[in-house]
Amino acid sequence: MLDGKRILLIIGGGIAAYKALDLIRRLRDRGASVTPVLTRAAEEFVTPLTVGALAGQKVYRALFDLTDEAEMGHIQLSRSADLVVVVPATADLMAKMAGGHADDLASTLLMATDKPVLIAPAMNVRMWLHPATQRNLALLQADGIRVVGPDDGAMACGEFGPGRMAEPMDILAAIDHAFAPGPLSGKHILVTSGPTHEPIDPVRYIANRSSGAQGTAIAAALVALGAGVTFITGPASVPPPAGVHLVRVETAAEMLAAVEAALPADAAIFAAAVADWRVANASDTKLKKDGSGRAPALDFAQNPDILATVSAMAEGRPRLVVGFAAETNDVLANATAKRARKGCDWIVANDVRPATGIMGGAENEVTLITEEGSEHWPRLSKDAVAERLAARIVEALA
Ligand code: C5P
Repeated sequence: MLDGKRILLIIGGGIAAYKALDLIRRLRDRGASVTPVLTRAAEEFVTPLTVGALAGQKVYRALFDLTDEAEMGHIQLSRSADLVVVVPATADLMAKMAGGHADDLASTLLMATDKPVLIAPAMNVRMWLHPATQRNLALLQADGIRVVGPDDGAMACGEFGPGRMAEPMDILAAIDHAFAPGPLSGKHILVTSGPTHEPIDPVRYIANRSSGAQGTAIAAALVALGAGVTFITGPASVPPPAGVHLVRVETAAEMLAAVEAALPADAAIFAAAVADWRVANASDTKLKKDGSGRAPALDFAQNPDILATVSAMAEGRPRLVVGFAAETNDVLANATAKRARKGCDWIVANDVRPATGIMGGAENEVTLITEEGSEHWPRLSKDAVAERLAARIVEALA
């Protein structure tokens, strides 16, 4: 059952739009509420009156509608649902989503939402197989968009092949799946990620080469398993994952404050590359050459160790605390010592010598160090490392 679930249903302009009518009825039969949005092209296939009558709700159509905006702004509309479903997702709508366009109500809602999105593509077989559509599909999947169908079969245009929209019952099954509790549902997990920036003056800072890719992949893998994730990130070079509670910070001190504010948590994964030192005498104004040829003297102060602080908490310590060890030599020995020194449960160790291409790259080769010993994993994509780690976290929190 979908009791009480709120579906924002975006209907695209294709012949398969008629199946959206059946879907609305079935969703309501199962206890969901449906807020419909029609693209302009969709109105050529189904009428707002039919859609509104079946949904029992107001139909949203235009981005710049003063009445709608006064009642519920488009940003609020994009977030007031539990799931956004696009039926049918036409080639054009998929291209807009992949390209980040926001030139009508539907595409703007899809850009502005922080909720999971499920699309049911439907189009002519050639359009579906076109490299542009396949490229867009890959981009959307990488962005965490869920996809149901299309099916193979006879199409309204007289051709045969993939491109036929999934049947309403299959779309319903995908919607049920989107709401199915994952093994981490009900669990709150905190993930730190990215580098920190420690200011020297208002325009300069000390940083490191962390991209945030591994922390982002871990957060995404945990979200996919149903966890509620607070993602605390420094200024990373990869975009944050979808579906997290996002907290952006700059410095180590801000990161510690954000971590403390986010507790309690069932587990905490400290994937951030936190600067060990900050500039104690950072200047409020831009440092200038004084003509003497002497460089300014920077004094350093040690930053708080967030991992060690949380690991040592007498009260409210997450059940599982995981740290990372980026090493350039004696990886196993250094990381094993680090696990003991920091007081965390697991250390994920990796070799970040430039020759490995791991720092800032797409792959990682890690050793998981636990109380029981060490376990070397083969070189994998950062996504695959994240999935393995997430699976271990499921076991640990079971
Ligand atoms: O001591 P080192 O920086 O090598 O330790 C790495 C681990 O400790 C990572 O998990 C990192 O997120 C965490 N760390 C931290 N706060 C610091 C320094 C490192 O949480 N100030």
